[in-house]
Amino acid sequence: MSIFDYEREERLQFNPEGCGLSTKALRAGQHRSLEGEHSDPIYPTSSFVFSSAREAAACFAGEEEGNIYSRFTNPTVRFFEERMAAMEGGERAVAAASGMAAILSTCLALMQNGDHLVCSRSVFGSTVSMFDNYLPRTGISVTYVNPTDLSSWERAITPETKMLFLETPSNPLSELTDIAAVAKIARKHDILLVVDNCFCTPVLQQPLKQGADIVIHSATKYLDGQGRCVGGVVVGSEKELEEVFGFIRTGGACLSPFNAWVFLKGLETLKIRMDAHCKNAMAMATWLEQQAGVERVYYPGLSSHPQHELAKKQQKDFGGVLSFEVKGGQDAAWRFIDATKMVSITGNLGDVKSTITHPATTTHGRMTPEAHAEAGITGSLIRLSVGIEDIDDIKQDMLLGLAAI
Ligand SMILES: Cc1ncc(COP(=O)(O)O)c(C=O)c1O
Repeated sequence: MSIFDYEREERLQFNPEGCGLSTKALRAGQHRSLEGEHSDPIYPTSSFVFSSAREAAACFAGEEEGNIYSRFTNPTVRFFEERMAAMEGGERAVAAASGMAAILSTCLALMQNGDHLVCSRSVFGSTVSMFDNYLPRTGISVTYVNPTDLSSWERAITPETKMLFLETPSNPLSELTDIAAVAKIARKHDILLVVDNCFCTPVLQQPLKQGADIVIHSATKYLDGQGRCVGGVVVGSEKELEEVFGFIRTGGACLSPFNAWVFLKGLETLKIRMDAHCKNAMAMATWLEQQAGVERVYYPGLSSHPQHELAKKQQKDFGGVLSFEVKGGQDAAWRFIDATKMVSITGNLGDVKSTITHPATTTHGRMTPEAHAEAGITGSLIRLSVGIEDIDDIKQDMLLGLAAI
């Protein structure tokens, strides 16, 4: 039998529709070529060739489907998009060059001059910077609300509001927003709800199933999981995603095929990594809460977290990121961080290696002092993205920090 035999080709493909999330993470979006490769192939090509001038013209005119140029589509990027759509339960996904490119593209593709955005005041620092410094240049205005107060969402909506934006749990304080309740408000006013699902990943939370219209990821975090590549993805309905695709295709904030391939590999182990992150983070949060030098721990898995009940209802587990305030302000927080030896001092999170950062002067450093106060980001706050090292080794490192404050 030739390797190009048609029946053999059929056996090379498997459609995991109806399978569980772990199976989808491994097999959705896989399109084997006739070479029969087991792992997903990378297509590092900037453009694609045609069999004739007629075919090229038909593809460019959109009359026939086909790859034209990797700013528009690329097979490896498409495999990643298909896998993410399957895992989040969306009709379509579009990849972007970074999480911020995914957020910007979603906003510019789905809003225009004169429109209004309502955003949770507890979102990633660069999201705030973009909404404060760049979106208004396009004539889109932004109002921030307390994400835990449903009436504040309702009150902020005007006839011009086109989008509600939130992150749950939020970075860095792990504040939760009730997705289903905010989705109900969005539906009532016929506006879009966009959820940044970076902290949970589809393993712990699928916002589309709870009524959100669009899900955004910084793939840089848990989807990669090993701190190798920057990337992002937007997931939602065909109608909205066609607009986002159009913007990215034209604006050029596209994902590289190499990064898409790394994310495909990352997704294969996402479920087992998330389980390990959650287990270690829960143990660390419980332990930190008992330490004398720690003022307060922010982790949705703790019964002391004000939204612990919502976390149990909305998420499958509590995630791998926690924050804590140490006694003694910013000086003590910096001394704590400097005294650790193993955890990496870096702004990234969602890595299998534990990472530590001081949000007020790093990831959220470009926010104004007023915005910090409003969001509750103090000088004594430390964010720990708990990795999958042996828990006793992470505790040992935290003890070095505690001894220094
Ligand atoms: C919650 C959240 N959203 C979005 C982003 C932006 O992602 P990227 O760095 O991939 O642009 C980050 C980055 O830290 C983040 O933590």
